Amino acid sequence: MARDAAASGAPRDGELLQRLRSEPITGMGRVVYSSNAVFLLELEGRDPGHPDEPLRAIYKPARGERPLWDFPTDTLHMREAAAYTVSAALDDGTVPPTTLRDGPHGPGSVQLFVHGAAEDAPVDRRSLEEQLRSLAALDVLINNADRKRAHLLLADDGRLHGIDNALSFLPYPRQRTVLIELGGESLPDAVAERVRGLAGDAARRAVLREHLSVLLDAAEVAAFEQRLDVLGASPVYPVLDPWEGRPFEWW
Ligand SMILES: Nc1ncnc2c1ncn2[C@@H]1O[C@H](COP(=O)(O)OP(=O)(O)O)[C@@H](O)[C@H]1O
Ligand SMILES: [Mg+2]
Repeated sequence: MARDAAASGAPRDGELLQRLRSEPITGMGRVVYSSNAVFLLELEGRDPGHPDEPLRAIYKPARGERPLWDFPTDTLHMREAAAYTVSAALDDGTVPPTTLRDGPHGPGSVQLFVHGAAEDAPVDRRSLEEQLRSLAALDVLINNADRKRAHLLLADDGRLHGIDNALSFLPYPRQRTVLIELGGESLPDAVAERVRGLAGDAARRAVLREHLSVLLDAAEVAAFEQRLDVLGASPVYPVLDPWEGRPFEWW
């Protein structure tokens, strides 16, 4: 039951989440540039967005999590899944489908591997600006303490994704973001509408609460709901401390 609840997401992701959770693993390699133990998995079937390629996933086993003083041990993989769960509830498309799985190194998170855009690919600046703001709103809601430049991934279909969302959902204010300059600016109408829509929909909130309760502790879920209420009522990016509000970029 816990795993099923944790895996719930946007309806269109349902089949993909199921595959990420259960499809046989045919290959595994270690991702070298990571602060925790991170693995790239190849699964048996094809990537629906890239039919010539196998379905790939980023697997982060709980066992490979580096202990941190401010986050409880063995919870980072749950936070990855919780970030996706909120993104899916908003239907904002920012976090790649993410779920939990017992992998070769034990339980952990699995996230769809995103194919990055080529360095010289043309960029639609307007779309990128809007997507950055959408992601910045998600970060406010999940209280993301680690939104670095390297965690913004532009995909080959032009979509901007937020990856590495593990350092989120502390029950007290702890946002750090490379998008700090947005502080004081209003959310774009479409983004604000998505937040307000979720904040004001008791039924969707109840489902989301149930799913998050599997992944986070009660104080963290309550703090999330409070942030949702605040941002829904006042759709403005928070002004963060110019020093404390920035991520440490050396990892
Ligand atoms: N969903 C993803 N799609 C593609 N590459 C990813 C994805 N998630 C992580 N990566 C790659 O793996 C690297 C390490 O992952 P990250 O999530 O930053 O791990 P850590 O928790 O150790 O900081 C990233 O810098 C990125 O290159
Ligand atoms: Mg990282």
